[in-house]
Order: sequence, then C-alpha cells, then structure tokens
Amino acid sequence: MKGLILSGGKGTRLYPLTYTSAKQLIPIANKPVLIRVIEAIRDAGITEIGIVVGDTAPEIQRVVKQGHEWGVNVTYIPQDAPLGLAHAVKISQDFLGDERFVMFLGDNVIQGGISPLIAEFARSDYNSQIVLTQVAQPEQYGVAQLDQNNRIIKLVEKPKEPPSDLALVGIYMFDANIFEAVNAISPSWRGELEITDAIQWLVEHNYNVHPYIHQGWWIDTGRPGDMLEANSLALEELTPVIEGYVDRDSQIDSRVTIEKGAEIFNSVIRGPAIIGRDTRLVNAYVGPFTSIYHHCVIENAEISRSIVLEHSQIRNIGHRIEDSLIGRHVTVHRSPIRPRAYKFTLGDHSNLGLLGDGGS
Ligand code: G1P
Repeated sequence: MKGLILSGGKGTRLYPLTYTSAKQLIPIANKPVLIRVIEAIRDAGITEIGIVVGDTAPEIQRVVKQGHEWGVNVTYIPQDAPLGLAHAVKISQDFLGDERFVMFLGDNVIQGGISPLIAEFARSDYNSQIVLTQVAQPEQYGVAQLDQNNRIIKLVEKPKEPPSDLALVGIYMFDANIFEAVNAISPSWRGELEITDAIQWLVEHNYNVHPYIHQGWWIDTGRPGDMLEANSLALEELTPVIEGYVDRDSQIDSRVTIEKGAEIFNSVIRGPAIIGRDTRLVNAYVGPFTSIYHHCVIENAEISRSIVLEHSQIRNIGHRIEDSLIGRHVTVHRSPIRPRAYKFTLGDHSNLGLLGDGGS
C-alpha cells in the first residue's frame, strides 16, 4: 500500500500564525501535526508516501525533506489551486498507480494509530474503507447515513440538515476504482471536487465501501480552539521523560516532559505539559495542558493550557496567561518605558484578550 497526505490549503482560520507557516507544521505536544500523520502511516507499515502541497510547499519540504528521518520515502505532488480532496487524488494517480492507498488529511489528529484500520483494509476485499465518528456539529463535515446493518445509504458534504451525527474523519482507504469516481463527479457549490461525492459515486455504482466507526478522539485542527484541545489530548498520551536540567528549587510533577537542553530554575510545572529543547524557565509557573516549544524563555510569568511556538519569550507578566496560542519569535513582557500603557505590535488577524478594568 501507499500513503497520500494532503497538505495544501492556506489555513485562513489560523491567521496570523499561518501567514508565515503551514498549518500542518504547528506543533501539538511539541510535534508538528504533519509529522504525527507521517508517523501514523509509517507505523502501519507504509513507507511510500506522497504529499500533496500548495503554496506552503517550500516550508513543508524544508521540514520533511525526503522523509528519511522518519523512515519513509516522500514524493511531493504540487496542486496548483485548492480544488478539493478528490482533485488531489486525481493529480496523484501517477504516483499511486494501481496500488491500494490510505489518504490522510495533514491537519487531522486521531487518538491511537491507524495500524488496525489499515490491516483490516489490507486483508479485505473492500474497494474503500472510510472512518466515521460521532460529532456534535455534523453540518461542518461530510456526513454518512447508515442502515441497520451498518451499510452506507448515502454520504453528503456539509449538509444543512444532517441525516446523522456520523462525520467523515479525514482518513480514507481506496483501491484504484477511486480514479473512475473522481473523474465522474462535478465540482460542489464551493467549487471543489469533493471526496465525499466520489465515495458516494462508489456506493451508487455498487462498489464495496466499508464504514469503520472510530471510538476515540479525533480533531480536525482548523481553528485555534481545536489546536488547544488537540494539544491537551496529545499531552495526556505522552510518556513523560526528563532530559533537561531541573534545579532543586523547582517542582515538577509526574506528567511532565522536559526535552534536551531545557533548563528549569525555581519554577513549578504541573502536567501534563512539555518543555522544548533549549527552553529556559526562571521563576515560572507552567500549568496543565501547556506545550512550550524549543528555544523559548518563560521568566517571572505564569502560563497554562497554551501553546507557545519556538523562539518566543514571556517575561515579568503579572497575570497568568491561559488558553493562548503564541506564535514564533513573539515577545510578551512588562515594559519599563513610560508612558505606562499597553504597547502592541500585533500582526493582521491577531486576537488579544485583555483583563477588563474593574471587572470581577
Ligand atoms: C474535509 C472533508 C469532510 C471531512 C473533513 C474532515 O472537509 O470534505 O468531508 O469531514 O475534511 O476533517 P474540509 O476540511 O475540506 O472542510
């Protein structure tokens, strides 16, 4: 089998972070989502992986290279415009050939691996296997309607009146019949060739499409809130290791990972949390569900349930920072320079939540 990862898209809902970086490269528990996807595919025994890339191709290539660091061989497949998931399959036909393949959206994070799923598909005579899970707002996804015997009746993309609460998770398995389907369908109202329509075509033409119902958590990391949620869930699964330096005045609880070269002085860290490579904490509090990436400084400050990206500094802040997503090379500090006022340099689409004056 081969793997196909879709890693195009602009990530507009994650502006300003995604002005300068691909959304798939934002780390969750200090590991970029795209690397998690590559590892999940590799752990299922697949080493030939195609990555469909758009405008952010150079950055993705800079990080993933040929994939050898993760034990896989990567082929890049450029997509000129975001014309849909089925369009991505279409342009990948040369790479995929006649082989069965798993397609994984590069911004999806799922609990556990996908090895059992792939093994089931590899053993079966299914033409396709899709992954479904119950969600609270099915109208935001592709939705499946099943009969009493768990057979697919129909699939619809972002229905106004969803026929069920079973959403299509961004992991799909196909054989070569999918190419006939993607060539047969027309663009949807949003101008994209929808993979949901292509699978519906397979169902209508009596191909064997098997629904697998996923019970654990799954997050499509499109918005900042999803990122924080995925970060919390991934941190809970992390096996803690302390590889950095922790001084005697610090208190680190059992669910904390401290990466190589990190230094912790007179600080308190309550897990689950991770402190990245070469990051320094001085007189700091890092609370649960926080990931601080590499080369950061947190000094005389408190932060919890947040993600801080590389090379950022937070110093001398009187109030605790919470539920925050802080980008690369950001400085948050108390300014000694008069006038005593808030002084910001915020990028387009930044979102700053200040404490209200006299509020409770
Ligand atoms: C895409 C698919 C949708 C699926 C979702 C999962 O949606 O079209 O069927 O449920 O991924 O993440 P999009 O992210 O393009 O809105």
